[in-house]
Amino acid sequence: FTEKKLNGKRVIVTAGGTKEAIDPVRFIGNRSSGKMGFAMAKVARDLGAEVTLITTVPASFAGMNIIQIQTADEMMQQLKDVFPKADVLIMAAAVADFKPMKVADQKIKKNDDEDIFTIKLTKNPDILQTIAATKTSQQFVVGFAAETQHLLDNAEKKLNKKHADVILANDVSQKNAGFNVDTNKVTLLQKGHEPINWPLMSKTEVAKKFWDLYLNK
Ligand code: C5P
Repeated sequence: FTEKKLNGKRVIVTAGGTKEAIDPVRFIGNRSSGKMGFAMAKVARDLGAEVTLITTVPASFAGMNIIQIQTADEMMQQLKDVFPKADVLIMAAAVADFKPMKVADQKIKKNDDEDIFTIKLTKNPDILQTIAATKTSQQFVVGFAAETQHLLDNAEKKLNKKHADVILANDVSQKNAGFNVDTNKVTLLQKGHEPINWPLMSKTEVAKKFWDLYLNK
């Protein structure tokens, strides 16, 4: 890993859970820590890539371009700008499936007469699917699949539906895998290949194994 094998490559990594605004002070979010994406970005940087990290979780890593955003719409906007010139996109972000239909201009006040408050949600675009549909044969796109059941079936479907070159799938119902921990247990799916099961390892090790595979593909 001392060689700069990704020299000249432009890599984009998304990380963290999107925060979907309800009003100026509130949002709907999820527990994604951004750690898997951060590891992917740092290893790519160490291998000499020109890295853009698009993250909802504040980060300050040297030697990469960091764009902080909150919502899925903002993530999509940034990706539309930078993806056309990228060689690799790693979609490690946990994008919310739904967002509030309307974002209130002012802080929503509680109403003493009402014990139930309803927020209508509308679907977010599938960023990976939308962006990967525009990719050229030179571009490489990686998605994640966090599942609690039918891991391989669901991940295989995502590989095809979302036009990804690789899906890194993990069973988040297992201890030490997935959200908010430093380790992950990943199965790598690639079109036309048998799934590869990696043992439980640190997210940095997962990132190193992924980039090693990318460089030797
Ligand atoms: O469908 P699911 O959310 O399980 O797929 C996960 C993969 O799709 C991740 O790579 C995630 O970043 C991406 N995704 C996306 N836009 C969405 C939902 C998920 O890009 N709205």
